Amino acid sequence: MQRPASPVPEEPDRTGTREAGGGTGRRESAPRLRGDLRAAIPDASAAVGVTAAVFALLWVRMETGTSSTAAVMPFMDDPRAYWMYLLSQAFGWSALLWAWGTVMLGLVLSGPRAVRLPPRRTLERWHRTTSLTTTALMFAHALMFAAELVRHDTRAAWAARLWSAFADSFVPGWYDSGTGQVAIPIGQGALYLALPLGLLFYVRHRIGARTWRRLHRFVLAVYVLSVWHTLLYGTNVWYGEWPRTVLWLLQIPVALLLVLRLARPARRAERLGAPGRPGGPRLPEWAVRALGRLTAAAVVAGVLAVAISGHDGGRTRPAGPPASAPHDHGSE
Ligand code: HEM
Repeated sequence: MQRPASPVPEEPDRTGTREAGGGTGRRESAPRLRGDLRAAIPDASAAVGVTAAVFALLWVRMETGTSSTAAVMPFMDDPRAYWMYLLSQAFGWSALLWAWGTVMLGLVLSGPRAVRLPPRRTLERWHRTTSLTTTALMFAHALMFAAELVRHDTRAAWAARLWSAFADSFVPGWYDSGTGQVAIPIGQGALYLALPLGLLFYVRHRIGARTWRRLHRFVLAVYVLSVWHTLLYGTNVWYGEWPRTVLWLLQIPVALLLVLRLARPARRAERLGAPGRPGGPRLPEWAVRALGRLTAAAVVAGVLAVAISGHDGGRTRPAGPPASAPHDHGSE
């Protein structure tokens, strides 16, 4: 059944454009993928710089015997042999940092308006460029992992090495060793969701801005999957030590912004309102919105409890080498 038109006027599309045929008579130029890719160059360059810094840090940690990766997988204790693995990890961290930034920007844009922020158009542009950079960094992370698998595969046939590395890195369910059996599909899920949910923006005139907005909300799942994948699989956050605590702490501002965004959304049509009132949501819709707000509040409480209690899912660092590794390069 078609829902009657809401008497509360819809706010204009905040994506920097108006829907085709919006009838306002004023046309703003729609951001295009090519233009945004060009605009993302400074942002992507900064990301490459951050990746290089993380790579250097991981290298030094391995050289000085303080690397958690080497503690978890002693066969990897040689940065010269495993530099591709370190680079993959470094891209993973910059991808996660950029994902954090772009999610924060998205929540700021769709939540209550705060004074003392750069103009909305600037924030929107940053959101678009950081989101493009995030997807590229995620891909680079997985690609370097695949390259590492090719490099350490001892079989002679290149086709077999390439196929096996591609399938392990990019085909969900293919990787069959240790924690990676669960953690890798979670990471792939994040990457494969990020691509359409980010890029659909550039074809929203075809699918409709409303459909695009509805789909784009699910981008939060990309972030949740990315963090989950990292907590589950990242050897640098394997033990319950400060890097893992910092990772958890970084989730507090995201959760708080999510609560604010849900409590006071920028779009009037998304406000909770009273169910059944003229112009307000119907009861099922209201219940879903209320549940979303309660869940977000529970997430804030949960993340705070984890950070304060120290029960963050990290393992205790063993005195000697571990009995098993999260994934077994040694046997390849
Ligand atoms: C095709 C998808 C993906 C594959 C094949 C993949 C593969 C891996 C592997 C093998 C590790 C373990 C590295 C270690 O020993 O620490 C890892 C860790 C990690 N991944 Fe992914 N990943 C994927 C997607 C993602 C995504 C979407 C993100 C987030 C933006 C991400 C961020 C990270 C981070 C931050 C780490 C921790 C690295 C460390 O501990 O130093 N990954 N990933």
